[in-house]
Amino acid sequence: MASWHDFGLRQSPYDVRPLRATKEGSDLLVGRDQDAQRLSDHLKSSTTHATIEGDFGVGKTSLASVVGYRLRQAFKEQGGPPFIPLNRRPFQPDERETNEGFAKLVILEIASTLAQNERVLKEAGFTFPSMASIKRSIENAEYRGTGLGAAILGFGGNFFRSSSPNTSDLFTEAGIPLFVDTCLSQCFPDHASGGVICILDNMEMLGKSPEHKVMIESLRDTVFGQEGLHWIMCGTDHVIRTVVSTPMLQGRLAEPISLQPINDDQIGELIARRLEVYSDGRVAARPPVGAEEFRHIYEETGRHLRQALKAAEDFTRDCGESIYRSGGQDDLNLLDKWLKEQATRYFNSASARVTDRGWQLFALLAESGGRCTYSQHQEFHFRTPGAMRDQVQILKSAGLVDIETLGNRHSVSIASKGWWVALHFR
Ligand SMILES: Nc1ncnc2c1ncn2[C@@H]1O[C@H](COP(=O)(O)OP(=O)(O)OP(=O)(O)O)[C@@H](O)[C@H]1O
Ligand SMILES: [Mg+2]
Repeated sequence: MASWHDFGLRQSPYDVRPLRATKEGSDLLVGRDQDAQRLSDHLKSSTTHATIEGDFGVGKTSLASVVGYRLRQAFKEQGGPPFIPLNRRPFQPDERETNEGFAKLVILEIASTLAQNERVLKEAGFTFPSMASIKRSIENAEYRGTGLGAAILGFGGNFFRSSSPNTSDLFTEAGIPLFVDTCLSQCFPDHASGGVICILDNMEMLGKSPEHKVMIESLRDTVFGQEGLHWIMCGTDHVIRTVVSTPMLQGRLAEPISLQPINDDQIGELIARRLEVYSDGRVAARPPVGAEEFRHIYEETGRHLRQALKAAEDFTRDCGESIYRSGGQDDLNLLDKWLKEQATRYFNSASARVTDRGWQLFALLAESGGRCTYSQHQEFHFRTPGAMRDQVQILKSAGLVDIETLGNRHSVSIASKGWWVALHFR
């Protein structure tokens, strides 16, 4: 296969990972000016935690991370309100088995973030409790041979995974909760005066286990009620709407910011930014999938950005050599042929399992945007929700749809394999 360097790139520009809270992540974010403004205004002005809803891979985590980064930069460079995003990847609802474990993890991560930002906060005139006592306790812990110091202040995050029986005592003994509480209340006495930004991602995991839902609700008065903490919660529409309206969390969470797929006319910019950021600086980058080809993939695969990026990478893997040799001749035809082959392959692997009735349902679902609930059974020509559910289960077993369940509510959406199959039908 041709390497990325053959195309003038230092790495794949079709990276499917979320954009990070860095300058690079900020440079790569396109088509989200309004959403970013709304999120940032919300963080600056509201006492409720922000929520972001949208389909899988639409860009929820990327938006939350980049907005956190930009607020920190605004504070550092222009003296805006002090917002500090956590130094770590976003939290997930299943990160710890108990709410106590989750709350401790959050507190620990906040302590490490505050410690890393001690200088910048002090320079901006914020009073900050001394970290000396924490450091001393940790040194003592080190001295006693528990080896926890590096994990705590080295931000390794191994603290709670330690099998040491006195781990929990050390957490309190080291004064970490007190330190965090004092810092947050001294630096951020009210919501409008900034705070630490934490992201709770992939809320759809709540549907996988009732315990996680209970756990999140029970954190209402601890980590979700802590002054100086601004949460951004991300998940698919169905889950976010349900969580926002649960009686336990009502009033704590804002109406969701609803992310729509990036507009087709932003795709040229999206590719251009990636080429700039990932150029290897030797020659002008000539990507295997340029703006026009990428827009074609994006439209053909149901405007699922992550899926389109993955398809661009897979296409490069399969056809990069020919593209490199042809020097850009006929790339769009080659791509079209490859897309159709993929679609047929996915269709063949699903076709044996799906009934005619199932295919009718699937076709209607694809035409109507790819999402439904059983309460729409009449629109899909079923007499009862139960009859619709049977066919949905068949589509699920063929990998064509996902079903999200929260309580007794179900939301059906076309899975990534399903979008390939939908392409086969076009
Ligand atoms: N505004 C954007 N500009 C450029 N690239 C983006 C943008 N938003 C997302 N991406 C890219 O799209 C992909 C999916 O983004 P991300 O992981 O943030 O989506 P998500 O909605 O959080 O997905 P999931 O539902 O799986 O959590 C990533 O590769 C990311 O780099
Ligand atoms: Mg995400």
